[in-house]
Amino acid sequence: MCGIIGYLGSKNAVPVLLDGLKKLEYRGYDSAGVAVIRDNKIQVRRVKGKIRDLVESLKASPLEGSCGLGHTRWATHGRPSEENAHPHRDCSGTLVVVHNGIIENYLPLKEELIREGHVFRTETDTEVIAHLIEKHFKGSLEEAVMMAIRELEGAYAVAAMSVRDPDKIVAAKTGPPAVVGLGEGEFFISSDINPILGYTPRVVFLEDNEMAVLERQGVRFLDFQGTPLSKTVDHLSWNPIMIEKKGFKHFMLKEIFEQPQVIRDTLEGRISQGSGKVYLDETGLSPRATKSIERVLIIACGTSYHAGLAGKYFIESLAQVPVSVEYASEYRYHDLLLDPRTLVVVISQSGETADTLAALRAIKKAGGLTLAISNVVNSTIPREAERALYTHAGPEIGVAATKTFSAQLAALALLALYLAQAKGRSDEGTFSPLIQDLLRVPHKLERILTEARRLEDLAQRFLAFSHFLYLGRWVSFPVALEGALKLKEISYLHAEGYAGGEMKHGPIALIDEDMPTLAVVPKDRAYEKMLSNISEIKARSGHILALAFEDDTEIVNYADEVIRVPACSPLWSPFLTVVPLQLFAYHIAAKRGADVDQPRNLAKSVTVE
Ligand code: F6R
Repeated sequence: MCGIIGYLGSKNAVPVLLDGLKKLEYRGYDSAGVAVIRDNKIQVRRVKGKIRDLVESLKASPLEGSCGLGHTRWATHGRPSEENAHPHRDCSGTLVVVHNGIIENYLPLKEELIREGHVFRTETDTEVIAHLIEKHFKGSLEEAVMMAIRELEGAYAVAAMSVRDPDKIVAAKTGPPAVVGLGEGEFFISSDINPILGYTPRVVFLEDNEMAVLERQGVRFLDFQGTPLSKTVDHLSWNPIMIEKKGFKHFMLKEIFEQPQVIRDTLEGRISQGSGKVYLDETGLSPRATKSIERVLIIACGTSYHAGLAGKYFIESLAQVPVSVEYASEYRYHDLLLDPRTLVVVISQSGETADTLAALRAIKKAGGLTLAISNVVNSTIPREAERALYTHAGPEIGVAATKTFSAQLAALALLALYLAQAKGRSDEGTFSPLIQDLLRVPHKLERILTEARRLEDLAQRFLAFSHFLYLGRWVSFPVALEGALKLKEISYLHAEGYAGGEMKHGPIALIDEDMPTLAVVPKDRAYEKMLSNISEIKARSGHILALAFEDDTEIVNYADEVIRVPACSPLWSPFLTVVPLQLFAYHIAAKRGADVDQPRNLAKSVTVE
């Protein structure tokens, strides 16, 4: 977590680094810094706070240089402070490093370096890297970096530069992502592609145990033994406009409104309107291999886990294949009881979540067949899984996942239909209306979004509450979990998502007039039981805000307020019911003055375990 950026070219590096840091800020935002080389000296500026504070500091007292590094931090070792902000220096102040990740053996290394006379100025694990490079420096920066990283244990994407081997940036990675941008006479190293998009479409993704040496004449790639590597150059398809707010107050709101298009884009080309056939040839999952799948295991964290839970109902209902869904952070500690007929689906929008990656690696080691669902082409998880199915949501900048959740639902719906098809369980009579209804989801979502104002008014009326319960059953259970997660992560209010039937086993004790319940009640197989849950809450003075289909005439007799969504096949209702909950959370948080796009303590891509 933390974002790193480096620039070597003919321009002043500082504006390029600042622009890049703004795009990486979702990765961490407690402190930031830049360093540039000028007149054989390294100049460093660091601040506690956000990138805007760094911008102000540099406005007041500018720096200039055509080779530079930048960093935005999410604290792991050492509190957020100016001293602990990167870039970090060696004793002589002639070299600097930026780092994303954790150095697990930093304490013994630090003790040894101190015994050898090195002077430490910070509480960070990163500073040991600067001193180790200093210790091994004999004239070549890449050789010193290579020697230093051989002593490190843990995960890192690191970049270094030195006045003693100038006009050079050396980057290395094991764990967190690092991508090199190849422009015309200018080169970039970054934690993701967003800072590079505006300058060049040509990028190279570093694999673990690989290094890049950026020089004025070009970029060389090496392994950790110094052997030259020849790497594939990828051409990016995302464009820089995709990461602008386009008039919306926050990225999160813009991304909520992008959902109809994101679902269309994820379904497009994979489902035939006419025949209803699903094509997932791109994944390499042949119909024959798919037919032999007897069990599905879904692994993910956070919002992706909630999408996975919804996917369970899609797959079980359509393909009649049993599915289990596990938190990646927990699954790693399980005994891995896999057989070759289990398809393991690993969901990660960023493709970089450390817990999910660790689970994927353990599963691969145990011989499981893996399929990654990710939004970031060539990120680590889809690269390492045997098969990949990409969602087409475009870059998501708001830290709270919204449009990528919908895109994941679309990908899982496709997978469920594909499995059903391969297993011969897709008879036209039942499937054709379901597929037509799936294709109508984006249009129905557009209708919900035209009435988004209503959610703002509702949020205003619920501003006084500090605790919320979210309930749903069957496909609406993951929606309840996701609605509660959205509210707590961006508004810092207490919200609990529960399966409706579980309420009477504990949470009902919480119900009183101060704890409103958001009940997700589409007309589905669990509808009547949800009405009973609502009645039980009303009998205990609880206030009910229900999310129901627009043709539901009964719900008004039960709920205090009703938010309507267009009716659809019950299986697809999560696509529609989650959106009002995202808007509700957004408006409550915005009205409370919270930093919606960058909630406290969070980072978009959790690359530490
Ligand atoms: C919540 C949120 C997180 C992520 C989780 C997994 O809004 O964004 O809970 O869903 O950190 O991230 P990915 O999908 O990138 O693996």
